[in-house]
Amino acid sequence: MSEAVKISPSILSSNFGKLGDEIVALDKAGADYIHVDVMDGHFVPNLTIGPEVIKNIRSYTKKVFDVHLMISPVDKYISEYAKAGADIITFHPEATENTQKTIDLIKNEGKKVGISLKPKTSIDVVKNFLNKIDLVLIMSVEPGFSGQKFMPEVLSKVKEIKKITKEKNIKIDIEIDGGINFENCKTATEAGANVLVSGSTIFKSNNGNLKKNIELLRSS
Ligand code: DX5
Ligand code: ZN
Repeated sequence: MSEAVKISPSILSSNFGKLGDEIVALDKAGADYIHVDVMDGHFVPNLTIGPEVIKNIRSYTKKVFDVHLMISPVDKYISEYAKAGADIITFHPEATENTQKTIDLIKNEGKKVGISLKPKTSIDVVKNFLNKIDLVLIMSVEPGFSGQKFMPEVLSKVKEIKKITKEKNIKIDIEIDGGINFENCKTATEAGANVLVSGSTIFKSNNGNLKKNIELLRSS
């Protein structure tokens, strides 16, 4: 029953002054994906990194770059993020006028597609696209900042997506993002999440022992 859990550390909690080294360390510590939080100061009240940074860190690992775009409007930047080295490109439906068109733009770049739901966004917006995408990201905090408290009420959405995809035999990653720690990660995987994003827990727990923290999240 239990599928292998993938860990996608968010570099938002890393030291941006030595990003390359941080990514090498995450690779060595056993990360499955590298989660890159892209924020525009408009869709969310914070600013992070652009495609040029992704291009520069791309050579430090062969691991999957799991790029979470919190930018609006999103379409005009997809090609740049794809060419910079994203492997999975995840967007928020609120950031596009046409979800299908955004999916097609990402696919045309040869990349995997993710759709992200903020805590208050209903799964209805993604239901009709589940067989066309590779990943659903359920946000368990309001997007914008690391270090926030996990919102357990979003687990019902994880369960619902899991139920639908199982019934329809759709193979998809169900990723959960925000406030994941050693206490709540099990409830997330039991609900059906198979990819755990974590910033603070991976970089700050156990004196920043990345390997230990990744293993603890994976095995909980
Ligand atoms: C929030 C981001 C998350 C966040 C995770 O907008 O999408 O990826 O940085 O960090 P923690 O695990 O600290 O909540
Ligand atoms: Zn994220």
